[in-house]
Amino acid sequence: MAISLAGRNLLSIADLTREEIEEVWRVAAAQKSGEVSTEEQLTVARGRTLAMIFDKSSLRTRLGFEVAMAQLGGHGLYLAPADARMGEREAIKDVARVLGRTVDVIAARLYSHSHIEELAAESGVPVINAQSDLEHPCQALADLLTVREHKGDLTQVQIAWVGDGFNVCHSLLLICAICGANLQIATPATYEPRAETMANAQELAKESGAAIAVGNDPRAAVRGADVIYTDVWTSAGMEDQATRRRADFRDFQVDQALLQQAKPDAIVLHCLPAHRGEEITDEVLDGPQCAAFDQSENRLHTQRALLALIFS
Ligand code: CP
Repeated sequence: MAISLAGRNLLSIADLTREEIEEVWRVAAAQKSGEVSTEEQLTVARGRTLAMIFDKSSLRTRLGFEVAMAQLGGHGLYLAPADARMGEREAIKDVARVLGRTVDVIAARLYSHSHIEELAAESGVPVINAQSDLEHPCQALADLLTVREHKGDLTQVQIAWVGDGFNVCHSLLLICAICGANLQIATPATYEPRAETMANAQELAKESGAAIAVGNDPRAAVRGADVIYTDVWTSAGMEDQATRRRADFRDFQVDQALLQQAKPDAIVLHCLPAHRGEEITDEVLDGPQCAAFDQSENRLHTQRALLALIFS
């Protein structure tokens, strides 16, 4: 039976089953390769509107949704922070109800995950988490599609996360646990992923067979890895912690010496934007093993596939 995501929210990557994630990747690959014709694609969201409500800056996520809606024959409407001013000019539930009566799907990037949950509870239309303080599920879909394109069978892959155990790491943890990919996380002490997400991942991993572990030694994490993944040390909204974080993360830079601890054909991922010279060196980001720009392109393909399945 065909898989549809009609009427579904994507607040956490764990809202999707392994089969549904595989379907997003199948559709993404078919659209990316041209197997789905442009004409066929243009009928998918004809007459539909996606509202993109963003409280923080975005390049990749916004581009992915806006271009995807155009390619699917629909309309992507960007609402900048100054437009809605949710919870300030107007209550979140009122914004949610207005959007729900006007558009077909909402993508929201808000600081607080609970605000995205409130949007979903009140809008009556599917809500996609375009990044919250808890998760970044759209990123995770692109991340493991990229790993699969480069490395094949995810269950045979060893991924090392080097950096902050924050939202991108949380969604990576969960998607690896769902899909059976092995993940070794290295963060400085006190920057580990939240315990509840870790416990959820360990529970999901029992079914998939994924080996998931957290430690504080970046060299141990990357030894023999197929993939090294890093992210900024200071996420948006944490700028007042930047000096302390630079000190706390100083041993967690992905440079050529760290990369040499991984397998010779290891790839390097970064969700971008990168702070060159902090979490990653120019040499690695511009080097032949870097797959961050494939990963970035896959944001479009996976977000377009996700929307196509929601509109199916
Ligand atoms: N990785 C990511 O979400 O990029 P943007 O913040 O540019 O959307």
